Amino acid sequence: MTYRISLQPGDHDFSAEADQTVLEAALAADLLLPHSCRDGACGACKGRVLQGRVDYGKHSEGALSAAEREAGYALFCCAKPLSDLVVEARNVTRAGDIPVRKLPCRVQKLTRLAPDVMLLDLKLPASEDFRFRAGQYIDILLADGQRRSFSIANAPHDASHLELHVRQIDGGRFTGQVFGTMKEKDILRFEGPLGSFWLREDSSRPIVMVAGGTGFAPIKGMVEHAIHAGLQRPITLYWGARDRAGLYLDELARSWEAALPGLRYIPVLSEAKPEDAWDGRRGLVHQAVLDDFADLAGHEVYVCGAPAMVDAARASFCTDRGLAEDSFFADAFTFATPAG
Ligand SMILES: Cc1cc2nc3c(=O)[nH]c(=O)nc-3n(C[C@H](O)[C@H](O)[C@H](O)COP(=O)(O)OP(=O)(O)OC[C@H]3O[C@@H](n4cnc5c(N)ncnc54)[C@H](O)[C@@H]3O)c2cc1C
Ligand code: FES
Repeated sequence: MTYRISLQPGDHDFSAEADQTVLEAALAADLLLPHSCRDGACGACKGRVLQGRVDYGKHSEGALSAAEREAGYALFCCAKPLSDLVVEARNVTRAGDIPVRKLPCRVQKLTRLAPDVMLLDLKLPASEDFRFRAGQYIDILLADGQRRSFSIANAPHDASHLELHVRQIDGGRFTGQVFGTMKEKDILRFEGPLGSFWLREDSSRPIVMVAGGTGFAPIKGMVEHAIHAGLQRPITLYWGARDRAGLYLDELARSWEAALPGLRYIPVLSEAKPEDAWDGRRGLVHQAVLDDFADLAGHEVYVCGAPAMVDAARASFCTDRGLAEDSFFADAFTFATPAG
């Protein structure tokens, strides 16, 4: 069975099979709806169903509450059409000429950046022209078909390799492998580039970037791209971590202030240890932004890190500081739903 789906605003039209999610069908039609985890966990793909019926699919209650379903919202990464649909989705762009591909890659180098953070440097096949936008992510494909998402930490002009910043998860299957048995020259498979978290270059608005922990990875890709492209817009970059070790590329981030004149870097620690001898900002990283900006209207904000931080940032920046919802871009580091 094939259904028609219309997007509002913008008047885009595409078709979907009954077993396709709204997001899958939109991507197949070259329309990039906002999304991140594609797993019903983060809420980035949430939008309203204005007409028609959907099967809501499997998702977490945190990403879409019963009240939101009642109010007509759905998660387009798991909702499948049960009739023709008219749906409301903002920030829709054309996917353009960057294809999503499945490729092999070789582990080129493993570098410990912090006790629980590994830089995984992946060499891409020389014969393949892999392209991505600064800030996007890839899915590592595990042998049994499961996937693990990681943001690309380098900029697209340097696309012969991919840099990932992997935080070790207690009992984590893939990150356990990265910190345990993985060695140079190992072969992995991945799919990418994925997600709609990338630096928008078609605007002149000042930018605020907020990274929590390894949420620094895509932000690094964006800043390195901004330096390469000579971006003139003011950027205020906040990087939050528990302690000094968590700011695992602090020197690099400090060096960006000289490389990009409009950039200001503000590290923030929430649980600085006495031995950190920290005389910088303290507290929660999104709170530091609230303390510094009485008004975020007219800004563009990029946030990446733990889901709770992303949620707190979205709610307070949009509700208390006047940031437009469609100027808030985020990747929440949710984790893969267990198989079965
Ligand atoms: C779009 C996107 C981009 C991401 N980018 C990055 C990145 O650049 N760097 C990075 O370090 N992580 C990133 N993540 C998070 C990362 O995908 C997960 O931490 C990863 O899947 C863990 O895999 P694993 O096999 O080691 O753990 P699993 O075997 O999947 O999990 C083991 C146990 O730990 C829990 N768990 C797993 N991950 C987390 C977590 N992040 N926090 C708390 N508990 C967890 C699980 O529920 C499970 O109980 C990203 C996630 C998304 C959705
Ligand atoms: S909940 Fe749909 S992309 Fe995350």
